[in-house]
Amino acid sequence: MIVISSGPMEEAIIAPSLLAADFSDMGGAIGRIEASGADWAHFDVMDGRFVPNLSFGPKMVGDLKRRSKIPADVHLMTLEPESLIGAFAEAGADYITFHLEAAVHAHRVAEAVRAAGARPGVSIVPSTPASSLAELLPFVDLVLVMTVDPGFGGQPLIPSCLGKCAALAAERVRRNLSFLISVDGGINALTVPEAARSGADVLVMGSAFFTASDPRAAIAGIRESYRTARLASARPR
Ligand code: DX5
Ligand code: ZN
Repeated sequence: MIVISSGPMEEAIIAPSLLAADFSDMGGAIGRIEASGADWAHFDVMDGRFVPNLSFGPKMVGDLKRRSKIPADVHLMTLEPESLIGAFAEAGADYITFHLEAAVHAHRVAEAVRAAGARPGVSIVPSTPASSLAELLPFVDLVLVMTVDPGFGGQPLIPSCLGKCAALAAERVRRNLSFLISVDGGINALTVPEAARSGADVLVMGSAFFTASDPRAAIAGIRESYRTARLASARPR
């Protein structure tokens, strides 16, 4: 794999996904995320149409934003994402990421997110090439590379997807852009070094975070392993 180390961040942004939390205690889950020292909370929004599963809507984001200051990273796995932007922005979403595969006019959707006061992100599923984002890159603040087929937590990472992070990181340098690269799906202690070497800045983590017996230690360990892998890949050979 091509190794790129020139992203905007040398420290990981870690975003535990509430999809893996106990839905009967979401208040406790956001408290656990904040207390762990993680950076963002990731909200997986599923409509039962774009993906074969349902999760939650903007009320969850709004209610949890009232009891936590942690940035809300909203990942819309929905058809017609434009219809949900206003509600999620109103609820306090900091990033709103939609799927390229679900948007007819992706540029318009990104601009609508920005106009609503949130940061736009775009995501691609494993079968979509990174090159399909070429025209959109200057208009988004985040690119979320799905490393599993979206819809469910707890699946193993598809290693070839990380090559797309490396390609995006190279493109970011070549065109002097500054979007963050996020990886989502199957991220855990074993896969973090490879994700870090690929150029990913944001690590979304569902089951690995919520099954950790000591979330604070788990986050510290992930941070350290990310840093080590980035430093090693930055060294000239
Ligand atoms: C999958 C979601 C992911 C998921 C990650 O459709 O977008 O955010 O929660 O879960 P893990 O880390 O368990 O693969
Ligand atoms: Zn997600």
